[in-house]
Amino acid sequence: MTASTVLRAEGVSREFGSGDAVTKVLHDCDIEVLAGQTVAIVGKSGSGKSTFANCLSGLDRPTSGRITLLGQDLAELDETSMARLRAENIGFVLQKDNLVPTLNLAENVAAPLIMSGMRLSEALERAREALEEVGLGHRAGSWPGQVSGGEAQRAAVARACVNEPAIVFADEPTGALDEENGLRVQELLRVKVKERGAACVIITHDLDLASGADVVATMSAGTFVMAGRVG
Ligand SMILES: Nc1ncnc2c1ncn2[C@@H]1O[C@H](COP(=O)(O)OP(=O)(O)O)[C@@H](O)[C@H]1O
Ligand SMILES: [Mg+2]
Repeated sequence: MTASTVLRAEGVSREFGSGDAVTKVLHDCDIEVLAGQTVAIVGKSGSGKSTFANCLSGLDRPTSGRITLLGQDLAELDETSMARLRAENIGFVLQKDNLVPTLNLAENVAAPLIMSGMRLSEALERAREALEEVGLGHRAGSWPGQVSGGEAQRAAVARACVNEPAIVFADEPTGALDEENGLRVQELLRVKVKERGAACVIITHDLDLASGADVVATMSAGTFVMAGRVG
């Protein structure tokens, strides 16, 4: 592991169910993500991308294999320590429904800061600034149900990055958007992670989105079929 390795997975497998009903979804997956690097994981629907990302980000646990995030072996963490590691070091952008519907945009973006112990007034101030940075300063008091899909995803990017996480996971972040809004969210995510020197793992079946990454890794039937550097 080099000094700038943020995330490393070795021989990760994930099975669901047991006995005769066991489904093997991931087989022996390896990946390494360095600080400041964006890695795209591409592959057809059902190839195991989300299952792998969920293991990498500590939302799920692999059946076998080893995942190290910031030098910490995730298998050694109980649920409380894992939750703290996620809250302090990982940003998430999902395909949709990223925002809590009963919190306004500023409160949504402030949530990771509050969970990390920042005072409410300071967190809301910082959240408003983060919304300004993604062109949504005027939407700080709006409810998620009042904004467009593109605006909600831009707010989700602001929230994912507000805590200065070491790594951001984006699982199909533009999957529910039209092309114009998808491009805008994609560019925003790229700029936000780069300016913070964060690592980023983007899961996508959109090759345009993947082409902006430093490394593209292709999954098929639960395993990596090739990995290469782009450009
Ligand atoms: N909890 C689960 N139990 C059983 N099978 C699952 C579970 N989660 C995912 N799978 C299966 O794993 C395969 C990969 O799913 P997923 O990781 O969501 O793929 P992708 O994100 O590439 O579309 C699919 O066949 C899916 O049905
Ligand atoms: Mg998926």
